[in-house]
Amino acid sequence: MKQEEIDKLNDELSKATPQEIIERMVNVFGRRIALSSSMGAEDQVLTDMLLKIDPQARVFTLDTGRLFPETYDLIDRTSRKYKINIEVFFPDYQRVQEMVNGKGINLFYESVENRKECCFLRKIEPLQRAFSTMDAWICGLRASQSVTRTNIHVVEWDANNKLVKVNPLANWSEEQVWDYIKANKVPYSVLHDKGFPSIGCQPCTRAIQPGEDVRAGRWWWENPDTKECGLHKR
Ligand code: ADX
Ligand code: SF4
Repeated sequence: MKQEEIDKLNDELSKATPQEIIERMVNVFGRRIALSSSMGAEDQVLTDMLLKIDPQARVFTLDTGRLFPETYDLIDRTSRKYKINIEVFFPDYQRVQEMVNGKGINLFYESVENRKECCFLRKIEPLQRAFSTMDAWICGLRASQSVTRTNIHVVEWDANNKLVKVNPLANWSEEQVWDYIKANKVPYSVLHDKGFPSIGCQPCTRAIQPGEDVRAGRWWWENPDTKECGLHKR
């Protein structure tokens, strides 16, 4: 898609509701668009919205092999509730095996470089494979989530991955996410009730204290500016 078309869609949709954004994008991309879900609160909202618009729409998740048991439980509960097959992408076992045997099972605590290598093999490489059947992806990013996300747009060109990226919740607050979940009885991770607003891999996520930034529990040992796994590089 040309940059002018993307800019036009973004202008048209920058003040639209998430449902209007999703519906428009499904009309443009059909089954060449899919929702990328980590099973977090934002993604669960988007799953509910998307499947109400198109019950056969595609939802996929990246199983890093290091997710919380509660996340696997939620994949199962969500698939049953909405009667869908969430597409699960796994890392290349040979490359993960080599990394782990060379650098240790918990290599990510040793350096930012190790952490990025682990995120690359367990998330980015499988994501790139997933993209082979897509022209656009839907993500649950919100501008107010972190310093690295303040400039996101509703519709943007993902130059790293060379496809369109749609962030229907870009302008939503955390409160709006939770109001939607409650009003629509959307299934969500039990970890959210235990102090985990943002959930990633189990060894790289911890609960936060009241008043802390919502992403403070992700890679908590690192500096806030490095805290992106590469999925959302800009
Ligand atoms: S991350 O880059 O730090 O891991 P975060 O957990 O905030 O991202 O999630 C932001 C968005 O990235 C999610 O709303 C979702 O669209 C996508 N995402 C993150 N993790 C995964 C995953 N394991 N599988 C699929 N999509 C994911
Ligand atoms: Fe590896 Fe942690 Fe990244 Fe998960 S979040 S892929 S365990 S470094």
